[in-house]
Amino acid sequence: MSVIQNKLDSYGGNFWDFENFKTNGIHKIANYPAMMVAPMQHKLIEDLYEFEGNIDNIFDPFHGSGTTLVEGDKFGMDLVGIDINPLANLITKVKLYGVNFNTIYNSIEKVIKNINKFTNIDIEPMNFPNINKWFREDIIKDLTIIRESIVLEKNEKNRLYFWSCFSDIVRKFSNTRSSTFKLHIKEQEKINLMQNTVISDFIKIIKERHHDLHPESSTNKKIIQGDSLFEMRKIDSNSIDLICTSPPYGDNGTTVTYGQFSILSLFWIDRSDLSISDDALLSNYSAIDNLSLGGRKKEELICSTPTLSRYLNSISDSKKMKVITFFNDYFKALEEMIRVLKSNHLMILTLGNRRVDYKEIKLDEITSEFTLSNNMTLEAKLKREIPYKRIPRRISKVGNLGAVSSMNTETVLILRKK
Ligand SMILES: C[S@@+](CC[C@H](N)C(=O)[O-])C[C@H]1O[C@@H](n2cnc3c(N)ncnc32)[C@H](O)[C@@H]1O
Repeated sequence: MSVIQNKLDSYGGNFWDFENFKTNGIHKIANYPAMMVAPMQHKLIEDLYEFEGNIDNIFDPFHGSGTTLVEGDKFGMDLVGIDINPLANLITKVKLYGVNFNTIYNSIEKVIKNINKFTNIDIEPMNFPNINKWFREDIIKDLTIIRESIVLEKNEKNRLYFWSCFSDIVRKFSNTRSSTFKLHIKEQEKINLMQNTVISDFIKIIKERHHDLHPESSTNKKIIQGDSLFEMRKIDSNSIDLICTSPPYGDNGTTVTYGQFSILSLFWIDRSDLSISDDALLSNYSAIDNLSLGGRKKEELICSTPTLSRYLNSISDSKKMKVITFFNDYFKALEEMIRVLKSNHLMILTLGNRRVDYKEIKLDEITSEFTLSNNMTLEAKLKREIPYKRIPRRISKVGNLGAVSSMNTETVLILRKK
């Protein structure tokens, strides 16, 4: 057993479950699906840092809301993150780049002043395809007032902070149900009954949330919007000291629809404040999910592992395609991650085994098999319970995949490049 495994096991019991954890502080400044458990990432990085020492940079190729990068920042590491979802990039930038502490109070006052000014004049309401399906008319008017007030803010970091607060307000007052990450219209009665406190809620959160942020800084922090499969090719081989990530567990459509969760907010936020590599991302409500890992066209399986082959043989042909498409992308991503990692350095992967049609896809075993035959060794492994409601657990029917249930345990693999 490795010294790292010994150390991780030494905490005993259900230490790694962090069962009483609730997202707080800087990690709570905006909502995003499937956020990782910050103290768990912190403890893992801390313990590995103690043993390895030589970690100057950390890379998360699927950074989501930036949990890992924020924790890596606390150890003074240089940070590199990639995510295809522009809302994930925006939230992560706000957490890492902070706000301007000298001007933030003034900026907040100015935004409030402009909101009051715009409330008393007629402004052209915001418009995008289907806006009236997803927002009530009075809500559109108030969101437009806030939007126009944010656009006038001159300091970019403060503006990004306001957009991140605005993204939660947009979702809260939209006509989509809050019980699912998918866009799913509420019953008309509930839409009619929704109280419009858009402006007062927004003002409340911009006054509160900045207290958890860092002072303005962007040194040695690189947040990249784009497809990891493509963006990782621009990173030098053997240049990364530590990879720490939670990759998608399957295609977004059948696991977590990060794109649908984000798209209404993204339609509202000023495009020039979103770094967007590909206009197609905002071309429709499902575009981000379709362009994410495993979302694109069906292909033949380009490579496999014993566990994946056994799994594919156990399901019907009609259900194979989505699984194959996902693993083609997933293996390509792993290959790139191994390439950019320095020899003798570590990769931490937090993985979940979901079920499709009542059969478990053992992503942890498949990942072990693939990486171990691609220049990696297994240093340590942890199994943990996923804390309350971080991922919806109920079983749902998805297209022709049959019943898809999400997972309630996770595996953390710690792998070392030879
Ligand atoms: C499990 S989440 C990461 C959760 C994150 N660690 C957190 O704490 O919020 C996976 C992320 O992968 C991103 N993603 C999916 N396909 C991608 C791709 N091809 N390139 C880059 N990011 C991708 C999704 O947008 C999502 O934010």
